[in-house]
Amino acid sequence: MAHEKKIYECSECGFESPKWLGKCPQCESWNPFLEKIAKNYTKNKQKKIDTQPVSILEKNHLDEQSKRIPTRIKEFDRVVGGGIIQGAVILIGGEPGIGKSTLVIQVAGLWAKNNGSVLYVHGEESFHQVKERAQRVNALHQNLFMFSSTDMSDILSSIDTNQYSLVIIDSIQSVSNPEVDSLPGSITQVRECTYELVQKAKQLNIPMIIIGHITKEGYIAGPKVLEHIVDTVLYFEGEGKHSLRVLRAIKNRFGSTQEIGVFEMCSEGLKEIADPSAIFLQERPVGVSGSIVFPMVGGSRPLLVEIQSLVGKSRIPQPRRGVMGLNSQRVSLLIAILEKKAGIFLSDRDIFVNVAGGVFVDETAVDLPVVISMLSSFWDLPIASDWAAFGEVGLSGEIRRVNGARIRLNEIAKFGFKTCIIPRIEPSDIPDKAENLQIISLENIKELNQLFENREKSHE
Ligand code: TYD
Ligand code: MG
Repeated sequence: MAHEKKIYECSECGFESPKWLGKCPQCESWNPFLEKIAKNYTKNKQKKIDTQPVSILEKNHLDEQSKRIPTRIKEFDRVVGGGIIQGAVILIGGEPGIGKSTLVIQVAGLWAKNNGSVLYVHGEESFHQVKERAQRVNALHQNLFMFSSTDMSDILSSIDTNQYSLVIIDSIQSVSNPEVDSLPGSITQVRECTYELVQKAKQLNIPMIIIGHITKEGYIAGPKVLEHIVDTVLYFEGEGKHSLRVLRAIKNRFGSTQEIGVFEMCSEGLKEIADPSAIFLQERPVGVSGSIVFPMVGGSRPLLVEIQSLVGKSRIPQPRRGVMGLNSQRVSLLIAILEKKAGIFLSDRDIFVNVAGGVFVDETAVDLPVVISMLSSFWDLPIASDWAAFGEVGLSGEIRRVNGARIRLNEIAKFGFKTCIIPRIEPSDIPDKAENLQIISLENIKELNQLFENREKSHE
C-alpha cells in the first residue's frame, strides 16, 4: 500500500516543507503553509503510458507532428514561431482584465473557420458572457464548441467526444481535480491539472491553449510553476489604462523568444499593429528631461520605445528605486557604474526607470539609453525629441558594441530621427539610409556625463 505522508505546502509558491513554517523561505510570504498528503500523482500517471524506447534512427512522423498551423493572426503567429504545432501546449499568462480571453476567442473563431472544430472550456465565465464577447469580436462559428465545466475529469472526457483540432482552457485556475486534496486555484491543483491536460494533448496530438492569471508580482499559483510542464509560455502585457498590448514568449520549444506581437484593444477586440514604432512613440512628451528613444530589436523586427527616468532628491534615509519594463538588477548595476565611473552621487536620490507602453526590454543594448535618461533627469536637461541611443555599458563604464546596429540605425533613420548616440562602431556598420543621421560615438560614460556638464555650464 502506498505510504501517505503529511507535508506542508506554501499556498503562494508551492514550496514544500516537512514541517510547518510561519514564513515561506522561497517567496517570503507569511503564514501560507497548508497541510497536505504527499501522494505522488505524477508518478502514478507516468506508469500508465504505454511506450517503448525506440532507436534514434527509427522513422518518425515528424512532418506530420510538427506541422505548423497558422492562426492567421500574424502578431500571434510571429510570437509562437510561425503557427501552432500539433500537440503543443501553450500557456498564456497575464493579469486579470488584460485581454487574454479576448485574444483566445479571436484565435478560436478564426481556427474554427479555417481549420476545424475547437473546444473552448470556460470555467470562469458563463456561456452568455463568453458568447457576448465572441459576438463582439466576430468569432461566432458553428465549429466553435463551448463547454462550461470546472471538473477535470469532465473536461478530459469532453475532449474525447469529438475530433477537436484545438482545445482551449480558460482558465487553469478555475479547473480542479476532485481527487486531488487541494483547493481549486492552489499550486497543487493547477500543476496537477496542467499535467493531465499536457498528457491529453500529447496523446491525441492536438494543440492546446491554457490561460493562467498572474498577479502584479507574477509569483502566484499559475504560470511560474507551470513553465517547465508546457511547451510554450506567452505573457500578455500592457498598461491598464492604455490600449496597447504586447504578447511575448518567455519560453518556446518551437521558436525564438525574441519576437513580440503588438495589439491594440478596441471596441471590436484586439487589433493587430503591424508597424508598432509609430504607436509606441505617439504619446511621447516633448522637451522634458529624462526621456530618450531606444531602437530595440525584438526578434526579426525593430521597435522604437521610449525610456523614461525620474531622478529626484529623496526625503527618506533609504531612497526609493522603481523599475518597470527592465531588469531591475541591471538598472541597479547601471546606477552603481554611474556613481563610480561618472562621479555622480545618486545615493540620496529616488530613482524610477520605465519603458513606456508596457513593453519589457531584456537587451543589454538598452543600457546606454537608460544611463542617458537618468543623467538627463539628474541634470534636468531635456534631450531633443529626435535623439535616440543604444549600446551596452560595461563595469568599467565603457560603452560597448551590440548586435543589430544596422537594423537599429535604419529604423531610427526611417522615423526621421536626427541624432543617435552609439558606441564606437565600424563605419561599414552605418547603413546608407542613415546618411542624414548625426552619429555621436562615445567610448565611456564619463564622456557622456561631460556632454551634460558642458550643457549645464553653457546654461549658466
Ligand atoms: P478579457 O479578455 O476578459 O481579459 P482577461 O481574460 O485577461 O481577464 O478583457 C478584459 C477587458 O478588455 C475588459 O475590461 C473589456 C475589454 N474589452 C475591450 O475593450 N474590447 C473588446 O472587444 C473586448 C472583448 C474586451
Ligand atoms: Mg478571461
